[in-house]
Amino acid sequence: PTPTPSPVRPPTEHDAAVSAMPARVVHNLKLRQHQGYWVLDTWARGAVAMQRGGGLVPRADGDVLLASLPKSGTTWLKALAFAVMARAAHPPASPDHPLRRLNPHDCVPLIDRLFAAGRDAVLDELPSPRLMCTHMPLSLLPATVADGSSGCKIIYICRDQKDALVSMWHFLKRNGLQNLSLQEVYESFCEGTCFGGPVWNHILEYWRASKANPSRVLFLRYEQLLQDPTDSIRELAEFVGQPFTSSEEEAGVVTEIVELCSMENLVSQKANKEGSQGVFIKFSHNSYFRKGVAGDWMIHMTPEMGKHLDAILRDKFDGSGLTI
Ligand code: A3P
Repeated sequence: PTPTPSPVRPPTEHDAAVSAMPARVVHNLKLRQHQGYWVLDTWARGAVAMQRGGGLVPRADGDVLLASLPKSGTTWLKALAFAVMARAAHPPASPDHPLRRLNPHDCVPLIDRLFAAGRDAVLDELPSPRLMCTHMPLSLLPATVADGSSGCKIIYICRDQKDALVSMWHFLKRNGLQNLSLQEVYESFCEGTCFGGPVWNHILEYWRASKANPSRVLFLRYEQLLQDPTDSIRELAEFVGQPFTSSEEEAGVVTEIVELCSMENLVSQKANKEGSQGVFIKFSHNSYFRKGVAGDWMIHMTPEMGKHLDAILRDKFDGSGLTI
């Protein structure tokens, strides 16, 4: 990704707030520091717009917001949540299911980008309960979403950060930064200056909210999903108030959702082989799918590098009940 000027002209009303934020360039991406977090420069405007009155207004009849750090399994979670929540209109085995025609990112909008581009009016068109996604930290979301007082439910996906950083490295290499070294990405994660970082704070905020308010925030782990997707899908369905009925269980709907959202199925779809995602920076659809395994970091990092990052996170998570 190259931060070249885009034809999209974002709204200018938050320009002054954005230019007052500290900036730095990490892996060719311009980041801004907003309330302690590094966010994409182009999205910083979105963070401000979302928080203001009349920004992201949760609906009384319920919204579901998927949240994650990039490269933590967002695409998979989008597919799963969409398949679960839309299953009445779109049975997972149906040959013309949207996930067989569209990239998962086209099924669940990323609010950060919409607010940044001044295109958030599309959220008003979504039927209830709206299914949306964010990479923003909890504390950058509107207060009533963050404190759980609105009807908005949040599903957070957390991944081993060693695998997430290796995934980020491959993702950026596939999107124009062929010469990026793993060491550079590693250092930005350890220093807390990567996109969405410090990653430990991003994870901890959602973790604490899930402990304080489990009916509002569901904390999922990518590795758990890999181990037993059916259990996590049932948990997700229950959480959004659409538990599987016994006749759905008998008909094998849960397994159909696992298959529909599997890496094998998604990568085989034309919509995921071509095209790209993004308004300000384009990311190819196929770059969202690679290996989809746990522990790939061991192929690319030394055990010492792994131990060092683990030690940082263990220290940050100390006393929270969250394990790495
Ligand atoms: P790897 O690069 O380790 O393979 P995100 O969606 O947040 O950008 O995360 C991308 C990571 O999720 C990539 O990890 C990608 O391969 C993996 N992924 C994408 N779709 C998946 C799926 N259906 N099942 C499992 N993992 C998936």
